[in-house]
Amino acid sequence: MSISGIKGMNDILPGEIETWQHLEEQARKVFSAFGYREIRVPVVEKTDLFCRSIGETTDIVEKEMYTFTDKGGTSMTLRPEGTAPVMRAFIQHKLHAQDPMAKLYYIGPMFRHERPQKGRYRQFHQFNVEALGYAGPDIDAELIIMSARMWRRLGIAKLSLELNSLGTPEARQRYRETLVEYFSGVKSELDQDSIRRLERNPLRILDSKNPDMQEVIEGAPVMLDYLDTESAEHFEELRGLLDAAGIGYTLNPRLVRGLDYYNRTVFEWVTDALGSQGAVCSGGRYDGLVEKLGGRPTPAVGWAMGIERFVALFEACGGKAPDTAADVYIVAVGDGTLPRAVQLAEQLRDTIAGVRVELNLGGGSFKSQMKRADNSNAEYALILGERELSEGSVGLKPMRTQEEQSSIGLDDVASVLASKLDKAAAVAGAADD
Ligand code: HAM
Repeated sequence: MSISGIKGMNDILPGEIETWQHLEEQARKVFSAFGYREIRVPVVEKTDLFCRSIGETTDIVEKEMYTFTDKGGTSMTLRPEGTAPVMRAFIQHKLHAQDPMAKLYYIGPMFRHERPQKGRYRQFHQFNVEALGYAGPDIDAELIIMSARMWRRLGIAKLSLELNSLGTPEARQRYRETLVEYFSGVKSELDQDSIRRLERNPLRILDSKNPDMQEVIEGAPVMLDYLDTESAEHFEELRGLLDAAGIGYTLNPRLVRGLDYYNRTVFEWVTDALGSQGAVCSGGRYDGLVEKLGGRPTPAVGWAMGIERFVALFEACGGKAPDTAADVYIVAVGDGTLPRAVQLAEQLRDTIAGVRVELNLGGGSFKSQMKRADNSNAEYALILGERELSEGSVGLKPMRTQEEQSSIGLDDVASVLASKLDKAAAVAGAADD
């Protein structure tokens, strides 16, 4: 019996990967346009790192981590998110000493043992940005502006921005007490999950999706009324900057996020185009995390975009990856033609910048090679038979138009193709650069 993959962990196949690559390329362009630099950290960390940062009473730490003991007896966890590992690296390598302000991005898989469904997987991927050392609301605004630029660049609509502020940990504590008081007064109306959360993490009750709970949640006091003065000012200023940038948002006082490290700004880009898993990009400020993990106090803010959801939304908005088919497929039939075809393929790769050349491998009749050329979706087939070889020429057949086949001298192929494909002929040897 064959072995299948793990539930909730997906293969990304040729045909699908092109869209991923396209989004990744665009994301990298946006990140570097805003001055963010890439950082890569391992997918496994010591378990403590996540318990200390995400919070012991969160769903992620309580239920969703892939934790194991390695051969040396250390408890390890496949990263359920990337912020904590990146902060760990920031502290460990004393990056603040090089520059107390750091703008970082990273891309990669995360692991959570959630119940798999459309848009929710056990291995999923994120684009992430983190900005360290900036305390003011200008960077919060810029991060949101940067995400909005990604949507615009990729033609994505159907998204709206939800915004909230959680204030300082002290303000949040005061609010927490008020919430506990309120929910304790209506305890008979709470579901089991919320009763459990009442003691351990009452803010998460606000996040409940249970329809029976909505009325009682509607009546709860809201965090924005309990903000400390500085956080209220920070939030006001952020809202002003978003207005200036023309970015609309709705205030969602119930947005509390599933990770405990946040303070002040939290936000989520949500869509109803993808069913129940509508959060496509989420993040916020986490000013206390670096210090909590043993670093010096460093304000920080960031977001993560779920790539699976981003891909789905891009496609739902009619997005398509650019064509990655070959430009040229070389057909070689008859004695002695293959070595010349190999040379020709290399010559074209050397001299035409960015050209995609596929050489027919594995032999085959003229008919079967032409069929493969057709399947490759190449723009042109170059046909090298015994007659062409002896004449020093090659047949050029347009594959996607009704144009006739023509014959060109082997020496002219590169320049003719370069102009037909509208690609620059490069200096010999430099085309792959
Ligand atoms: P998060 O909200 O847990 O935040 O995840 C961010 C995004 O990852 C979500 O909005 C969603 O698009 C995607 N996502 C989360 N879980 C899954 C899943 N099981 N399957 C598919 N997609 C998923 C964080 O991870 C924070 N580290 C974000 C952050 C960075 N905050 C500050 N800096």
